[in-house]
Amino acid sequence: MPQPSEPSSPPPASPRELAALDLEAYLRDPLRKQAFVTPMFEHIAPRYDTFTRLFSLGMDARWKAALMDWFAERTPTRAEVLDVACGTGDLALRAAALRPAASVLGIDAAEGMVARARARVGAGDRTRVRFETGDLTRLPLPDASIDVVLGGYALRNVPQYEAALVELHRVLRPGGILLTLDFYRPPSAAWRALFLGYLQLSGSVVGWWWHRAPVIYAYIAHSIRHYVSAAEFERALERTGFDTTARREHLLGGIALHAAVRRSAPSRSSEARHQHGTRRTVPRPG
Ligand SMILES: C[S@@+](CC[C@H](N)C(=O)[O-])C[C@H]1O[C@@H](n2cnc3c(N)ncnc32)[C@H](O)[C@@H]1O
Repeated sequence: MPQPSEPSSPPPASPRELAALDLEAYLRDPLRKQAFVTPMFEHIAPRYDTFTRLFSLGMDARWKAALMDWFAERTPTRAEVLDVACGTGDLALRAAALRPAASVLGIDAAEGMVARARARVGAGDRTRVRFETGDLTRLPLPDASIDVVLGGYALRNVPQYEAALVELHRVLRPGGILLTLDFYRPPSAAWRALFLGYLQLSGSVVGWWWHRAPVIYAYIAHSIRHYVSAAEFERALERTGFDTTARREHLLGGIALHAAVRRSAPSRSSEARHQHGTRRTVPRPG
């Protein structure tokens, strides 16, 4: 498994400072979004697992189980697996349990998440299951070095999800698999208003109760408003060099799972980025 580089999280701001920021302005501006997102997840980290279980009314575990069924059907025995925006390591650890001979690397921008993920790795697995702090839009991994990329609630949180797909395409080998699970904008305007209204209200209450900062969990609804539908995401996969092989929606399009295969030919955006000289490669260690 290739080695990632050193962490580069921005320093965490206090919940009060986060609450004082103009969230909409931060989400609109790709240059500023990450400066809100990473400190926010640093604050959430200690309660992330509890929050996710409660907030999804237990559905998160079922969605992750469904995604990992797809993983089990598609992943070779000795695969190189990458879990991007791994949080506390749920998907990476499930992958490691399903494929005992695989190497698994989890990367997340928030050090607090990575520390919790590391604490969950059993002693016998520490050489093949690793967690590192890093940015999924600038992965310090060689081209075509990964067999399967997992992304749970990952791409909605980055400043430019399509650029992130180009990066995931770069690190996947041709024929490699991308498996994602995330919130999306439901296509029906009436349901969207209800769904996002519920997420915003309940998120604000929990954010106030736990952090005295409603914005911390209301962020989920805001980020979905700024994101795309599951069908639009599939078109972005197509544009960036993937073929979608499965898509499953829940909550009337509010949640979706995608399975996609990396095509052999480079994506058009990847070629464009290469021509502009921003594509990086890191040699394999050893
Ligand atoms: C909602 S959590 C998902 C955690 C986990 N994948 C899961 O399914 O439970 C989103 C995670 O994305 C991480 N994140 C946000 N921007 C990132 C980036 N640019 N690179 C890597 N991780 C990022 C956050 O730190 C946070 O842990």
